[in-house]
Amino acid sequence: MITIKVFEDYNEMSAYAAEIVKEVINSIKKPVIGLATGSSPIGLYKNLIEMNKSNQVDFSQVTSVNLDEYIGLSGDHPQSYRYFMNQNLFDHININKANTFIPNGIADDLGQECKDYDQKLQDLGYADIQILGIGSNGHIGFNEPDTKLNANTHVTGLTTATIEANARFFNSSDEVPQQAISLGLGGIMKSKKIVLIANGTNKAKACKSFVDEYIDPQIPASFLKLHPNVVVCLDKEAASLL
Ligand code: F6R
Repeated sequence: MITIKVFEDYNEMSAYAAEIVKEVINSIKKPVIGLATGSSPIGLYKNLIEMNKSNQVDFSQVTSVNLDEYIGLSGDHPQSYRYFMNQNLFDHININKANTFIPNGIADDLGQECKDYDQKLQDLGYADIQILGIGSNGHIGFNEPDTKLNANTHVTGLTTATIEANARFFNSSDEVPQQAISLGLGGIMKSKKIVLIANGTNKAKACKSFVDEYIDPQIPASFLKLHPNVVVCLDKEAASLL
């Protein structure tokens, strides 16, 4: 079931989403949190950092699993998702980095890396809470619009739309890796709770289409309607077509 919350602006949206994550972490002995990168969760992570500094939330028992990583970028590359997570969250909270998992985009055997990542998720019992952004094309993780979608962690090509959207983090779109490792829909849907955050008019169309009645692999986020506990947090602009 999807609950939609609309907020005045990005800051209010981020603060609310952070409260949800805090409550989950504080109510479980060994919480597993599923994390996303990109612009959308930066405010949420800032709130979590502040909450950690003011002792409202403790990350010492937390394990994290990220959704995806670019293929070909090592963890010390400034555009890798490992680097992003260190910069925007892990370096500022009391999490044990040994308990932070992100697919290895430079693994020798990428197929094995995907299998091992799914095994890791299964061993952890999947995320107690999964944070998601949404692509303007409706993707979640790097599950891009297609005629069929992967259930498991997999290597995927990125669509032109995604490469162009992510070019803002690189010097040019030529530098954006064309492939990534991503959790599949199965790994995402097995999370106990999901919080999807989206802001800005460029997300309005995707937000409208995914909450519509139908489930469509061309709008991967539409599968979230099958999940029992999804909270969608939007700013006014992202909600403008609902
Ligand atoms: C990132 C991820 C992607 C992003 C999405 C939105 O780990 O899985 O699905 O959440 O592309 O990106 P932003 O937030 O940059 O608009």
